[in-house]
Amino acid sequence: MLAARVLSALAFLGLTAAAPPRLSSRQSTAITALSAAQISSFTPYINYAAAGYCKPASTKAWNCGANCNANAGFQTVASGGDGSAVQYWYVGYDANLNTIIVTHQGTDPTKFLADETDVDFFLQHMNTTLFPGLSSSIEVHSGFADEHALTAPSILAAVQAAVAKWPSVKSVTLVGHSLGGALALLDFAYLPLHLPSLQYKGIMFGMPRVGNQAWADYISQGSLITHVNNKLDIVPIVPGRGLGFHHPTGEVHIQDDSASEWLACPGQDNTSGKCTTGAVPTIFDGSIINHLGPYNGIWMGSC
Ligand SMILES: *[C@@H]1O[C@H](CO)[C@@H](O)[C@H](O)[C@H]1NC(C)=O
Ligand SMILES: *[C@@H]1O[C@H](CO)[C@@H](O)[C@H](O)[C@H]1NC(C)=O
Repeated sequence: MLAARVLSALAFLGLTAAAPPRLSSRQSTAITALSAAQISSFTPYINYAAAGYCKPASTKAWNCGANCNANAGFQTVASGGDGSAVQYWYVGYDANLNTIIVTHQGTDPTKFLADETDVDFFLQHMNTTLFPGLSSSIEVHSGFADEHALTAPSILAAVQAAVAKWPSVKSVTLVGHSLGGALALLDFAYLPLHLPSLQYKGIMFGMPRVGNQAWADYISQGSLITHVNNKLDIVPIVPGRGLGFHHPTGEVHIQDDSASEWLACPGQDNTSGKCTTGAVPTIFDGSIINHLGPYNGIWMGSC
């Protein structure tokens, strides 16, 4: 069942087409290694997440350097943010992947961890204007929700503009690194409530925990999220499970050894030593540098 969910997430990414993993029912909850072809299929999304750190003028013109050049042909619809009060973001269309891309910038991990260890946040109910109809048991990080609300109307308008420009496109992919991953995850819940005819998936890197168990269960439905964690990165273990925060399914964990294997971890917050929650029990066991990369050779955090 769990392996079936991981497989369906990989299938959504188009990964199983390249190398169909065959798992017997006995191995159905196994931690499985991604093939080289599966890993390289993440590359465009890694470049998109890395480009999220670039100024809106350069993502609008799509001349931000290596990460823009790697996805040449991307057509930006809108970009925004100021990089301090409002994280940068951009929305556009990738014809090769035939998907609308929505990307949010992350933040300086040192500052991020200081905020999280100060515990200047709490689990709060969803804003019913932005998230109409969600179960009242669902709660998310107050700081991430506030940050998400700042860009939500602009992102929605930009996705609507993209759909108007390319009406045959039905796929929207939410991308982000670090805090940008958390904002992308909130968009993954937010956008379908306003544009229900599109199909959504999320590919996040170094994403912190965003909400409570009911949130993690809601997000895990359909297995449309993949969150990639690098080695001993500490950001994905905050805020702690002890504070009531949980990850959805869909972790892929890059191993902290010379082989740097990418393993698909079944379940939520898998406590195996091969998955982040098991490998990094406390922030003192982890690394901030690993947060920035490399992800298949690509570093995040600057532009
Ligand atoms: C919910 O979001 C709307 C739109 O951003 C805002 O106007 C309203 O103040 C928010 N409500 C609460 C209770 O925060
Ligand atoms: C973690 O992965 C193992 C496979 O090694 C699996 O048996 C177990 O159910 C998973 N744990 C959770 C919490 O899903």
